[in-house]
Amino acid sequence: MEKIRSFNENIDIKNKRVILRSDFNVPIINEIIQDNTRINLSIPFIQNLLKREAKLLLISHLGRPRGYKDKNLSLKPVFKYLEKKIKNKIYFFSEKITNKTKDKVHFINNGEMIFFENIRLNEGEIKNDENFAKNLSSLGEVYINDAFSCAHRKQTSIHKITKHIKNSYAGPLFMKEINSIDMVLKNKKRPTTCIIGGSKVSTKLGVITSLIKKVDNLIIVGAMANNFVKFKGNKVGKSLVETGSEKIIEEIYNKSNNSNCEIITPFDFAISDTADGEAKFKDLNSISDNEIILDIGPQTINNIRNIIDISKTVLWNGPAGYFENKNFSNGTISIAKKISENTNKKSLISIVGGGDTISSIKNNGLDVNFTHLSTAGGAFLEYIEGKNLPGIEVLK
Ligand code: 3PG
Repeated sequence: MEKIRSFNENIDIKNKRVILRSDFNVPIINEIIQDNTRINLSIPFIQNLLKREAKLLLISHLGRPRGYKDKNLSLKPVFKYLEKKIKNKIYFFSEKITNKTKDKVHFINNGEMIFFENIRLNEGEIKNDENFAKNLSSLGEVYINDAFSCAHRKQTSIHKITKHIKNSYAGPLFMKEINSIDMVLKNKKRPTTCIIGGSKVSTKLGVITSLIKKVDNLIIVGAMANNFVKFKGNKVGKSLVETGSEKIIEEIYNKSNNSNCEIITPFDFAISDTADGEAKFKDLNSISDNEIILDIGPQTINNIRNIIDISKTVLWNGPAGYFENKNFSNGTISIAKKISENTNKKSLISIVGGGDTISSIKNNGLDVNFTHLSTAGGAFLEYIEGKNLPGIEVLK
């Protein structure tokens, strides 16, 4: 495989205008940041670049804006947060990026930073537009992409920009994400177990079929497991199921029969009549018509704990239940705790990824430790699936 050009300590950036593409696409409600994980992880590298006397131009997107005036999608709250965390001078650039921007940002000194408003407020960004790429790239002499979570997007600040800046590199967080996933998929210690949760099986078909060829155990949890339970002829009451999923599941079982991967699905559940209700516990085949499966049950949790115990590598993406209601967060919490315990005590290699999984862990204030906590959602899954991600290809 061609090597990715990664940024390193020997590259001289003193006095140079460095464009850093980060991912500050974080949940913000009423200008209050709900989860700082992505920002906090980015800060040490920003500080490193400033200490090395770069003139830093920081860009990120936020959400999917529908016009320039979408105030809810301003990165100002992130700017204010960074201002508190970083001692160096930081300016906020709220205008669109045009061919005049280069002259407007020329004033910054070494060790200072300009933070640009949501890059997607520029129409050219999501179109991967050539003209916008020229304007954006004219701002810097060096480009670093440290936003692995956006590497699956063929957009200007991830993709086309590199056409115009020869000195383009992947940053340290970007490389850490790739190296960690590679450790599981390519240099893994066996047995390897993957735990895949979330609600839609159709969106994860690609990743599941690809994992079947690579791992020993594939554990399916979350609402997506309901489809498997139903497929095996069990009643799932009013639980979330996807129409047309039978074909997908049949394909998954056929593929697993031709490989050495065992597919494990839940066999007891925490259920209720409503999503905001109390938990009752039920086995397979005892779910009545008005009940909803909202979490895995204690026997399934035990089984998953035992599988984690015999595993040397675990990759986990997607919560086990409807964790937004604490009554149904037990499956997710138990998995998080067990993986963390074995990472600490049994040198388990653990990779945990996906926005939902991280927020379920954070919401519960759990003090857990994993070999690698990925902040990427879609990019994480597409990379595991073996797709060529546009943001990686241009850095090779
Ligand atoms: C993410 O949160 O997965 C990344 O920031 C990409 O965001 P997007 O799905 O809006 O491109």
